[in-house]
Amino acid sequence: MSNKVWNDVDEYIIEKLIPDNQTLENVLIANKQAGLPKIDVSPTYGKLLYLLAKIKGAKQILEIGTLGGYSSIWLARALPEDGKLITLEINPEHAKVAEKNILDANCQNKVKVIVGKALESLHTLTESNQLFDLIFIDADKPNNPHYLELALRLAKSGSLIIADNVVRNGEVSDESNHDESVLGIRKMMDILSNDPRIESTAIQTVGLKGYDGFVLSVVK
Ligand code: SAH
Ligand code: DHB
Ligand code: MG
Repeated sequence: MSNKVWNDVDEYIIEKLIPDNQTLENVLIANKQAGLPKIDVSPTYGKLLYLLAKIKGAKQILEIGTLGGYSSIWLARALPEDGKLITLEINPEHAKVAEKNILDANCQNKVKVIVGKALESLHTLTESNQLFDLIFIDADKPNNPHYLELALRLAKSGSLIIADNVVRNGEVSDESNHDESVLGIRKMMDILSNDPRIESTAIQTVGLKGYDGFVLSVVK
């Protein structure tokens, strides 16, 4: 689903509020040249991630699903000098493109890309005593319930957990839809709906990336 008005308004917002976007536009050009899918967050969403990280005063950020590093760079830019972002990616080709983009964006000192299955990397992280102030879940959706459980183990009181693509053109509430990704989102929503560890909402979004939405949670 797409809509010309949504796109025009997104372009308008980008022009007004995200003017200095060249480095990040270069990331999208590099991704295209490398043949990566165009499933990065939109500029307005990237800036939302950046603002949330700033509001939170995040020093340690964890991202699940790097792709070409577009959202990683938005998040890294919100970090203080001594801040760190760890981002998890299964596809070595994506990780290679991301590493180059992160270098070109001068974020290499703050960002570490870990290549491998996110579930395995997350389990390793739980053994390292590292906790994160903000966790962005944006990889394979069938694993979202597991990513949420692991994110809760890697978070502290007050940490933000954000999960992308939870609306999927409205598929989430279409009971006739049994797609694996949709089932993964619903299982995650079921955990969130009655979990005493966390408070959440979900917001629908429209714009350059069509009709979707995200979950925003704060750990109690
Ligand atoms: N956050 C990125 C977009 C991520 S797209 C941005 O907004 O710029 C989802 C990414 O998750 C893809 O690169 C895909 O290869 C990766 N992925 C899929 N399954 C995964 C898994 N099991 N472990 C780690 N990464 C995975
Ligand atoms: C897909 C994944 C995403 O993270 C996204 O933002 C859009 C689409 C996908 O796997 O199709
Ligand atoms: Mg996404």
